[in-house]
This record gives sequence, structure tokens and C-alpha cells, in this order.
Amino acid sequence: MLAAISLKGGVGKTSVVLGLAASAWAAGHRTLVIDLDPQANATAALDPHPYEFTTNDVLADGRQGIAADAIVGSGWGPGIDLIAGERALEHRAHAEGADSALRLRTTLVGALDRYHTILIDCPPSLGELTRNALAAAPAALIVTEPSYFALQGAEQALEAVDIARAATNLGLRPAGIVVNRVRHSAEHSYRLDELRRAYPLLVLDPPIPDRTAMGAAQGAAVPITALRSKSARDLVALFTELADNIEEGLS
Ligand SMILES: Nc1ncnc2c1ncn2[C@@H]1O[C@H](COP(=O)(O)OP(=O)(O)OP(=O)(O)O)[C@@H](O)[C@H]1O
Ligand SMILES: [Mg+2]
Repeated sequence: MLAAISLKGGVGKTSVVLGLAASAWAAGHRTLVIDLDPQANATAALDPHPYEFTTNDVLADGRQGIAADAIVGSGWGPGIDLIAGERALEHRAHAEGADSALRLRTTLVGALDRYHTILIDCPPSLGELTRNALAAAPAALIVTEPSYFALQGAEQALEAVDIARAATNLGLRPAGIVVNRVRHSAEHSYRLDELRRAYPLLVLDPPIPDRTAMGAAQGAAVPITALRSKSARDLVALFTELADNIEEGLS
């Protein structure tokens, strides 16, 4: 189980979650996406079957194992499910009560046994929703673009992982830093090198390039594996390699 985090918005957390989900699902792995973002972009892209409960309801309820009741199928096809996000999650951005950050973990107990790949999409902040994800997942995937702020953003995300480890989740590990939306430019090469120098063991290969297929798949609510363009096929191969490298790094 991986939680995709960054404090900066729009760097590609949701896209990386969907890319990894598509490649895992296409490889025949049972996959679950948990959408903790009030924007619910992952939910929209996964074209969910009709559902009654969301991560907001699950967190409000808090009972052990209750998340199982909120799992719903995806229009992508059999073998991939989600727990939907919704706007009302906005009201859960702040701690409430002593074990506030542990609520997600408690609700997931026993609900995940049939899944090989579980991905949590977080909002663009290191607030209470992300803390819930970091308390529940054994590993955190940091997502960044190769920008001027990337180094600082990665540092702050890694700090959040350290804090969550100490506070709620002793086994939590960084799964690595995914560099997304890389273009062929001197600036991007420079920023990628800068990240690799700062975090030689954490920056993951391959970086994910900027490709129009990413937005096209999301807009059509289909997995990138469903698109025939070269751009889409390249992305599928890259996400498959990325997933392998993440798994190898964690094993
Ligand atoms: N590798 C890529 N190539 C092309 N477009 C991309 C790529 N990654 C992300 N995008 C596009 O950039 C936009 C932001 O990406 P995304 O929604 O995945 O970021 P995010 O970090 O989840 O944002 P937020 O912080 O708001 O949740 C989307 O329109 C998405 O389609
Ligand atoms: Mg997102």
C-alpha cells in the first residue's frame, strides 16, 4: 500500500496514482484506489459504479473495518475498485480528537486482504487527511515536478514522513520520489540532476515525461492502457517500470 503525497498542488499525485493503478490492473493485480482528496479527481477518472459511501463517511464513522462497505467498482473494468472521495472531505482537514490521524487505518482493518496494489491519493497539503494516509500506509510515495521548488518540496514531504513515523506509524518508509512531467529542457535536466544529487537513493527511475495521453485518459475516465497512441503506450511502459522499481526498493 502506497500513499502519494506532496504539499504542492498540481504536481501529478493523482496522475501517478492512476498511472500505477492502470499498470498494476493491466498486469492482472487486484487494485484499490482510496481517494482522500476533496477535489476527488481520482474518483472522477476511475468512473465509479453508483455508490453510497465515500472516504468522508468512512472517516466520520471510524469503526474498525467499515471501509469495506465503501468499496465500489470502477468503470475501467473488473479487478479495480475504489473508495470515492468527495468535497465534504474539506471539513476533515484538521485534527479532531486524540486519535484523529488513526481513523483511516482503523477503518481499513481486514478490508484490504484481496488487493495486491493499494494506492491512496492525497490532497495537496500535509494536513490531517495526509496524516491519516501516512498512518495507514507502510510506504509514502513523494511526487514532484522538476521545478525550482522541487528540492524544498521533497524535503518537506520527507519531513512529514519522519513525523508520521514517530507519531503513528513506526514502520512507515519513503517509497521514493517520482519526478513527473519532465520535458526535454535544460531547466528540467538541471532540476532532475539536482534532485538526484540531493536524494541519490530516493529519486525513482524512470522519471515520468509530460505526455498528452495523461490528460486524455483522465478526461475520458479510462486507464492509459485503453489508449492506442504512442504517447499512451510509452506511459504504460514507464509506469510498469516505475512500479517494479518501487516494489524492488521496498522489498
Ligand atoms: N506526466 C504528465 N503529462 C501530462 N500531463 C500531466 C502529467 N502529469 C499530470 N498532468 C496533468 O497535470 C494536471 C495536474 O495533475 P494531477 O491532477 O495529477 O496533480 P495533483 O498533484 O494530483 O494535483 P492536486 O494537488 O490538485 O491534487 C492534470 O491536468 C494532469 O492531467
Ligand atoms: Mg490530485
